[in-house]
Amino acid sequence: MRHAVVMAGGSGTRLWPLSRAARPKQLLDVVSSGDGGAHSLLAEAFTRLEAVLPAERIWVCTAARYGAQVRAALPRLRPDRLVLEPVARDTANAVGLAAALVAEADPDAELAVVSADHVIRPVERFAAALTTAFDALAERPRALVTLGIRPTAPATGFGYVRRGPATGVPGVAEAAAFKEKPDRATAEAYLASGEYLWNSGMFVWRARTVLDALADHLPASAEGLARVVAAPAGTDRDAVLAEVFPTLPKTSVDYAVLEPAATEPGRVLVADLDVDWLDVGSWPALAQTLATADGNAVGGLAVTLDSAGNIVFSDDPEHLVALVGVRDSVVVATADVTMVCPVSDAERVKQLLAAVEQGH
Ligand code: GDD
Ligand code: MG
Repeated sequence: MRHAVVMAGGSGTRLWPLSRAARPKQLLDVVSSGDGGAHSLLAEAFTRLEAVLPAERIWVCTAARYGAQVRAALPRLRPDRLVLEPVARDTANAVGLAAALVAEADPDAELAVVSADHVIRPVERFAAALTTAFDALAERPRALVTLGIRPTAPATGFGYVRRGPATGVPGVAEAAAFKEKPDRATAEAYLASGEYLWNSGMFVWRARTVLDALADHLPASAEGLARVVAAPAGTDRDAVLAEVFPTLPKTSVDYAVLEPAATEPGRVLVADLDVDWLDVGSWPALAQTLATADGNAVGGLAVTLDSAGNIVFSDDPEHLVALVGVRDSVVVATADVTMVCPVSDAERVKQLLAAVEQGH
């Protein structure tokens, strides 16, 4: 049967100080619901999957410390579909753990893996693309299918997939190459070639296939995960998980599986995902979801005078942020932190947070 898992354990450091270790971006109510309220990116990811699958086959994988917040955000999530990692070891291990548990519940499961930090419109086209990707498994049961987006900029924070020969499934091609987070010059060459799509960070494969791929390309992870699921579910398994998971090699599924697998002809496929798509990974990306006022992107209480190109955010309804004569800056106020940087340095917020953590 078809299942899906939402990867929801990232810490969203480039959206600091809004996104915090205790409450990362996918759990913040930043998406406007259209009725004056707001909901989280995670809730949106779950609802989006419900266009394709019943709630009982939607799983969520996250760090144990976010378990309670995830349950609260997702009332329709079945308790036994919540997969909790004792610590974050990045997506290779999150995908592996989820796939192992899905395969235990349903050995022939076909599994979609999606991110929790995307805004996607319209949902109908997403649902159609995901269904096409699942359908491709009928023709290519051993395939690793990624959903690809037409790139609009030489972004260095994404993976790139080179479209190869067509398959028998319309809208699905073989991937001729996969490169995760290329440098700027490479990204520019990819964009100019017209042959590359962005990896959306969403995949479809059989649960068993991705476990086999992990065994081939990241055996330490595959062996550790096999020990975990060999233990009987419950306290025994939790104990093995707590012992083994922190020792697994910390890497993403893109580097660990997609890059090497794409060197095998026909192993990786790419399905076109033709939607408006936003990875809400940084302040300029989040700004695209905010209201615009006088040439500034504004979230929360703000007043601007002779100021333009700014991203202004206050997370406290009583805390006013007021700017005069300020240009192209990010100004974020939270209860305990105020962060200011030029928009052009927004990617360096991750570095800033590291410096803050060292100083504390
Ligand atoms: N459960 C779990 N555990 N989830 C995680 C972990 C983890 O340790 N680390 C990250 N995630 C979740 C994030 O919350 C997010 O929903 C998703 O996995 C992707 O992680 P990101 O950290 O946001 O990855 P990225 O944006 O740098 O890169 C990925 O997505 C891009 C598109 O958005 C890659 O797949 C790129 O190739 C892709 O272009
Ligand atoms: Mg991301």
